Parts: sequence; C-alpha cells; structure tokens
Amino acid sequence: MRTFEIAVIEGDGIGVDVTREAIKVLEAAGGVDEAEFSWNYFPWGTDYYFEHGRMAAEDYLDQLAPHDALLLGAVGHPEVQDHITLNGLLLPIRRRFDQAICLRPAFLYEGVPSPLRDKPAESIDMLVFRENTEGEYANIGGRLYQHSDHDVAVQTSVFTRRGCERIIRAAFEKAMTRPRKRVASITKSNAQGYGMVLWDETFAAVAAEYPAIETESLLIDRAAMEFVRRPESFDVVVASNLFGDILTDLAAIVVGSMGLAASANIAIERKNLSMFEPVHGSAPDIAGQGIANPLAAILSAAMMLEHLELPRAAASVHAAVKMLLAEGELLPPDLGGTARTEVVGDRVAALVGE
Ligand code: NAD
Ligand code: IPM
Ligand code: MN
Repeated sequence: MRTFEIAVIEGDGIGVDVTREAIKVLEAAGGVDEAEFSWNYFPWGTDYYFEHGRMAAEDYLDQLAPHDALLLGAVGHPEVQDHITLNGLLLPIRRRFDQAICLRPAFLYEGVPSPLRDKPAESIDMLVFRENTEGEYANIGGRLYQHSDHDVAVQTSVFTRRGCERIIRAAFEKAMTRPRKRVASITKSNAQGYGMVLWDETFAAVAAEYPAIETESLLIDRAAMEFVRRPESFDVVVASNLFGDILTDLAAIVVGSMGLAASANIAIERKNLSMFEPVHGSAPDIAGQGIANPLAAILSAAMMLEHLELPRAAASVHAAVKMLLAEGELLPPDLGGTARTEVVGDRVAALVGE
C-alpha cells in the first residue's frame, strides 16, 4: 500500500461541496491501485480573510510545499474584490511551484446534452494546454495618480522564450500520444506585436521538430468562433494564460457544462507541488444550495490520480463518471436532472471499481 499526503484547500462557495465529493471518490478509487491518502485540510479562503485580514497563513506556500499534491475547490466571494482573494491565495501557488502547464480537457460524454445538439457523443475531445505562470497574469504593473481624474493603470504582459517553449513543447509531446496528432496555437499577434509574435516564432520552431503533427494557428477571436462552429476539429490546443482561461470556459459549455470541466496545474519540476482544481469558480449564485455538480472536481481528482501514477484508479473514476452520465438517472441540475451534489458523489463512489 502506498500512502500519499494530499493538501486540501476547499476554499469558498461550492468549492467546499465539490471537494468533499472528490475526496469521497478518491477514497473509493485509491484501493483500485493499492494507494491510500492522508488528507491535510487547510482552512484558507475568504472566511479566513474575514477573521485574519489575509487569505492564508503568511508562510502558506511553505506549508503546502511538502505534499504530494494539492486539491483545491475554488476561491472567490461576492463581498471581497476578486483580485484580493485570488492574488492572496490561488495565483501565487501557480507561480511559486512553477505550475507552468495548465491542462484542461473538454470531452462530450454520452448522456450529456451539449448546446450543440447535433454533435454525437465523444465527437468532441480536446485538451487545452494553458500557459500558467506568465503572459497576461504576470502581475506586473502599477497605478499612478490614483483617486484623481488622471488615474493611470498599467498591466504588463510578460512572454519569455522559455515560458512559451515549455508549454508549446508539452502540447506537442502530448499530441504525439493522441490518435489525431493535431496542435492548434491561439494568439493575437495581429494586434500584439511583441509577446504574441515571440509566441508565434517559438511555435513555428517547435512545430518544425514534430513533422508528424498537423498544426494550425488561430487568432483568439476566430478561435472562439471555431470552438462553436467546429469543436470536433480540435485535438490539443495551446494558448497563453488569459486566452487559455477564456477558451476553457467556452470549451466547458460546448461539451455541456462548467460542472464537467476539470483542470490540472502541473509543476514543470516533478519535485514541485502540482494542483488539481475544477475550471469553475465558487459559483455564488448557487452556493449553499447543495446543487453544484461535483463531476468537474471529481474529474480533476482523476487527473491527480494520473499524476500520482495510479492509472488504474484514474481509469476507474473515468469509467464511473461515464456510467453515471450514460445512465442519466442521477444528473445534477446543470445537466438537466435533479440529483443533489452529494447524491452524484455517492453514486460515482459506488460505481468506482464496478
Ligand atoms: P463560476 O465558474 O463560479 O460560475 C459560472 C457559472 O457556472 C455560474 O452560473 C455557476 O452557477 C455555474 N457553475 C459553475 N460551476 C458549477 C458547478 N460545479 N455546477 C453547476 N453550475 C456551476 O464563475 P464566476 O461566477 O465568474 O466566478 C465566481 C467567483 O469564483 C469569482 O469570485 C471568481 O473570481 C471565482 N473563480 C475562482 C476560480 C478558482 O478558484 N479556481 C475559478 C473561476 C472563478
Ligand atoms: C481559472 C480562474 C482563475 C484564472 C481566476 C480565478 C484567477 O478563472 O482557474 O480559470 O483566471 O486563472
Ligand atoms: Mn477561468
């Protein structure tokens, strides 16, 4: 039996509910691969902020560092500005542990009503590689003449060759393992002639090393349109931090719901902490009602199992989710059913290992 030390930050809103269900499923799946988990809960988030004036303990990054992985629910509260909550907890985690690769799959499962109803199940199967440490999220900038009519704000994007190359290379490496072997790169190099052009140049250089891969480069506005018009044509997609963020909410709804969108923040250095969290946020509009779909958190937990090299456990979670969706009897409200969060989690946990 192998034991893994997992840090857990449930965070805010529905983050708490969906993380609980993910842990329930992990408890059931671990045994499939002779693994068990020891959970270290950290009470950080906006409630902690109300009490302590900060989102997490001062040394929170050091406290997280020794774990085998981090499971995170979501962060964000309607009464606190998002840049305070997110820059106080989530975003520094991605930077400190150099979680340069944000992996976000979008897969159209049998039993899920995509708004693009004519698309057959499994015809959409894309994997977005989102650059996760720099670009538009570099957190560099400043304010001048604040609180006056001359108020000026500068928010700088930072693109480095190293940063572009490692995410683009990771996308090509993954594409080599997938049957369709395609990579689409998303930029805005018609308007942004520095960073995005460095990205395009790097993409072309890496692509030249992978002649077996079919490539296309799309501008972000066109890409948004093509995600709806021809979602089935995309295989691996690689994009900058902000464009990857936007496109993965879009991809989520194309395959049915935010409630299905999983995400992994993978540290480039294996010894560093990787983090697994759904794409969605704390959903204040449905928080506290027990109706959030936990499948995005559960599928993110399955990505954690893959990362921990527990492939049979991961496959058992995927199979259980597929079964639940295809059965169609216990769907949560965002997928057209009436099942409550915990009922969905219970059912997936029961199906694991069947
Ligand atoms: P959101 O993802 O929280 O919600 C968007 C919409 O999708 C809402 O209508 C919500 O009800 C629905 N939805 C999301 N997840 C769902 C689920 N599991 N089941 C059913 N429906 C679901 O996005 P938002 O409203 O823009 O953001 C709310 C807060 O969350 C903000 O404070 C934002 O900054 C934060 N946020 C945090 C993270 C994170 O911590 N990783 C990610 C995104 C947004
Ligand atoms: C996500 C979220 C975060 C991001 C926010 C909450 C800062 O939207 O993980 O997709 O933009 O990265
Ligand atoms: Mn997002």
